[in-house]
Amino acid sequence: MLFSLPLAIQALVTTFLGVSEPQQPPPLTFELRHEHRLTNTSRIVFSDVKQSNFAAERVYRIPRKILKIPRPSSHEDFLAARTMSMKDDMSMMLDWQEDEIPGPDVSSRDDLLQFAHMAFNTYYADNTTEWYDVSDRGWDKSTPHGWLPGEDGMRGHIFVSQDNSTVVIAIKGTSAGWLVGGGGPSTGKDKLNDNLLFSCCCARVGPTWSTVCGCHEGGYKCDQQCVQDALTEKEDLFYPVGLNLYNNVSYMYPNANIWITGHSLGGSLSSLIGVTFGAPVVAFEAPAEKLAAGRLHLPSPPSTQHVTHFYHTADPIAMGACNGVSSSCAIGGFAMETRCHLGQVIRLDTVSTLGWSVDVRTHGIKYVIDHLLGPNSEWPEPDAEPEPSGFWGWPGWPGKDKDEPKQTTGRLPPPRPAGDVEGEDGVCSDCFNWEFGDYRNASKTRR
Ligand SMILES: *[C@@H]1O[C@H](CO)[C@@H](O)[C@H](O)[C@H]1NC(C)=O
Ligand SMILES: *[C@@H]1O[C@H](CO)[C@@H](O)[C@H](O)[C@H]1NC(C)=O
Ligand SMILES: *[C@@H]1O[C@H](CO)[C@@H](O)[C@H](O)[C@H]1NC(C)=O
Ligand SMILES: *[C@@H]1O[C@H](CO)[C@@H](O)[C@H](O)[C@H]1NC(C)=O
Ligand SMILES: *[C@@H]1O[C@H](CO)[C@@H](O)[C@H](O)[C@H]1NC(C)=O
Repeated sequence: MLFSLPLAIQALVTTFLGVSEPQQPPPLTFELRHEHRLTNTSRIVFSDVKQSNFAAERVYRIPRKILKIPRPSSHEDFLAARTMSMKDDMSMMLDWQEDEIPGPDVSSRDDLLQFAHMAFNTYYADNTTEWYDVSDRGWDKSTPHGWLPGEDGMRGHIFVSQDNSTVVIAIKGTSAGWLVGGGGPSTGKDKLNDNLLFSCCCARVGPTWSTVCGCHEGGYKCDQQCVQDALTEKEDLFYPVGLNLYNNVSYMYPNANIWITGHSLGGSLSSLIGVTFGAPVVAFEAPAEKLAAGRLHLPSPPSTQHVTHFYHTADPIAMGACNGVSSSCAIGGFAMETRCHLGQVIRLDTVSTLGWSVDVRTHGIKYVIDHLLGPNSEWPEPDAEPEPSGFWGWPGWPGKDKDEPKQTTGRLPPPRPAGDVEGEDGVCSDCFNWEFGDYRNASKTRR
């Protein structure tokens, strides 16, 4: 009674003054409906998940809240602005309009855990053989798509809410053996993408390294045009594939809201796609993608707060500390050097709070679920202090179902703008020991 008194009074006062939380949309229940993957000819194909194939697959209940997301007036305008910036190095003023979109409410550990499970499951693929693609004629089930286990490339899962109003695209991360405890077919392409997106200059770690692009100009000099071209030229790199994927899914579910999630490389790609289309994103332990967004010439919206990054300080990949000749990343052939993320960040300081040492093994999504987000979380519960009523639940939800279990697991530090967490005076900059310039005749490498 004593404990509930302040809550009761609060509720009373809130009702009295009429300052209740704005009405939020009800939570949604998602189920796995499709898988997506890439053929060896860079086409995206889908398969429908038969429930029996995924007997262990769970449903995901995710609370929502209204997000204000800046979107360009049209995707064509966005593309035009990007092309202009790429070709002529000129920026075009884009007309951003702020849309109110129901997005995920990830204010508690339980909510993040739902997305973490979705991201985790993408590492496992069903061996379905019926793949189809999305063409202008509709969902083209007639074209058979050979699928070879040795093929690599982007893949993942597609979850749809039971009312078909909302779709979650989950994108698989890097499957290097030392990251998730089991290699996998897509290691080669993952490594190329990782090293292009998250290194300062084509993953040049030392003089003995072979790099993923030849933009190094000696010393700490790097040709700017060259690194940009390296990221935009090949059509099977993951960012352009991600754009197709988003377009294909919105073709399949034309009226749905699309959210995106992923772990590691999958998280960074989720963010780049989410910033492109103005879609809500929840990313886990993602290597920092702000530098890549610039090199890809993404027109930068007035705010990227619809992207939420979750990571912890003992993960050298998310922290951009996995580089240097003797690091475990270098041994695996990766150079992860970027430190600045887009959007907002929930960063758990596991190094000082839990005494973890910096170790690439803490990067895995399973590790994060087991030790931070799941029911056996080591992250300390905050001191029991009276909560404003409705904090744990879905604020403003009329509560039709009084027996609905309240969310019980923990509060996390609130998300903060990435620049505040990772930078100084709100500004974070990458690769400051490098000099980028037009060392070459840029017109030669331009398309
Ligand atoms: C893709 O796989 C098919 C089937 O094995 C093969 O015939 C074809 O040559 C491959 N294409 C490319 C571009 O590798
Ligand atoms: C779907 O993706 C393919 C690439 O696999 C792309 O060529 C096609 O234009 C996309 N279709 C739609 C409707 O977005
Ligand atoms: C998947 O492959 C395994 C072994 O190759 C097989 O036993 C299983 O029946 C397959 N599952 C499906 C759904 O085809
Ligand atoms: C959602 O879409 C699926 C597949 O297209 C359909 O079978 C189902 O009836 C739809 N459900 C609702 C509530 O519209
Ligand atoms: C760059 O190369 C092109 C031909 O490859 C040449 O026409 C042009 O003059 C060069 N520009 C500079 C600044 O050297």
